Amino acid sequence: MTLYRQGSDAGLSPILRPRTADLISHNGTLLIEWVEKHGSPFHLVSPEALGENARALTDVLAQHGVNHALYYGAKVNKSPGLMHAALNAGIGVDVSSLYELRDTLALGAAGDRIVATGPAKTRAFHDALIACKALISVDSPEELDDLSARLPEDGEPQPVLLRLRPGSQAGSRFGMDADEVLLCLSVIAADKRFRFDGLHFHLSGYGWETRAAAIREASWLISEARAIGLTPRMIDIGGGLPIRYVDARGYQAHIERQSAADYRNHKQPSSFYPYGGEVSAADWLGCLLAAALDDGRSIADYFRDENLTLALEPGRALADQAAVSVFRITRVKTLGPDTAVVFVEGSSFSACETWFASEFLIDPIIIPAAAYTPAEKPCKAYLAGHSCLDEDVLTNRWLDFPAMPRAGDLLVYANTAGYQMDLLENEFHRHPMPKRFRVHHGADGMPFLTTDDLEMYL
Ligand SMILES: Cc1ncc(COP(=O)(O)O)c(C=O)c1O
Repeated sequence: MTLYRQGSDAGLSPILRPRTADLISHNGTLLIEWVEKHGSPFHLVSPEALGENARALTDVLAQHGVNHALYYGAKVNKSPGLMHAALNAGIGVDVSSLYELRDTLALGAAGDRIVATGPAKTRAFHDALIACKALISVDSPEELDDLSARLPEDGEPQPVLLRLRPGSQAGSRFGMDADEVLLCLSVIAADKRFRFDGLHFHLSGYGWETRAAAIREASWLISEARAIGLTPRMIDIGGGLPIRYVDARGYQAHIERQSAADYRNHKQPSSFYPYGGEVSAADWLGCLLAAALDDGRSIADYFRDENLTLALEPGRALADQAAVSVFRITRVKTLGPDTAVVFVEGSSFSACETWFASEFLIDPIIIPAAAYTPAEKPCKAYLAGHSCLDEDVLTNRWLDFPAMPRAGDLLVYANTAGYQMDLLENEFHRHPMPKRFRVHHGADGMPFLTTDDLEMYL
């Protein structure tokens, strides 16, 4: 028996793609066998979801006739399967470390499919990027100096973007203000070893409106670059496209209704990811392309008229529905007649927002190892990890269960690919790292697993 709801009364139950819903609803026994064999927690990765998400975005860009370049923000998840899926879908990869770059190259990507971002690139990372002529987003005049010192005297020029810090993010340590960008433009214009490809930014928050405002700022600098003889071809607007984890109405109702009493520590977090947002990533992009610049042109018109490519680096939006994380319940400690703390084998390092003083506002799906009886009563419980830290909780929120969970039942967290499942994972207490698998279906329709290791995709 599997308990989750979809539709208008869904509350915080996760939106699931049909394949995942089918796997969870009809294969409880198999999931329990997999946990026995591979340990708890484990993650099931669905790389094909990434290709579908990429297509939804490129369709919008194509409908608007806008030249585009999509780069998968590989930081969102350590799965090589997702990186492989991005390359198979014909898009590029945004790398933020030498190690992400190495994996991308090992999977067969050429340098022109790669953009490198981040303010603290090391010398070794710069050298590797120069060697494959990947596009480098330069974060500061200091980085431009360092890069210049690494560039060879001859050969193909090094493609670079300059990262702008738009006015809305004046306090951010990322990127440069307009004056610093102008300074870097003059350095680049005087040095044939650079090829100026355009401007870059990445903003925190999830509004398309702030991206529209930043494009307005960038458009002025694009004109300045052209005025000094440079030939920019791109504005890269980073990531931050929103995804929807739960039904928008159910989410809104929850937000309005919740109070400190819903949390075992009596502390209601002050902010949450917009788990039940009204717009999908594709709608968000449509709104952005239709937004007006100061001269009245839409952003889509601007990119077309100026022969510019709109680049995006979505992480979370491309990883939407690309993984679930499965935990086994190890013990249930009663706290009262109808309240309990549920301990899982695993820790909040594998799925939680409590480390960010927030909460994952998505209910886990329980898969009972044996059917509940009608005599069993609903209860409330919070979820604790297996470590020695009181703070190690998957959720501080009291969750409603139809019956008291039991040791051996499973809890499935849906949609964990975006920064949830492995950002903080470690071997605390020497527990082995959780495993990652890819689910396939045999000719008989039966699901089976392969490991999601780099070697599987080489
Ligand atoms: C430069 C840059 N690009 C892209 C992203 C991906 O953002 P998101 O996963 O919200 O789309 C990030 C995330 O921090 C980033 O720093």
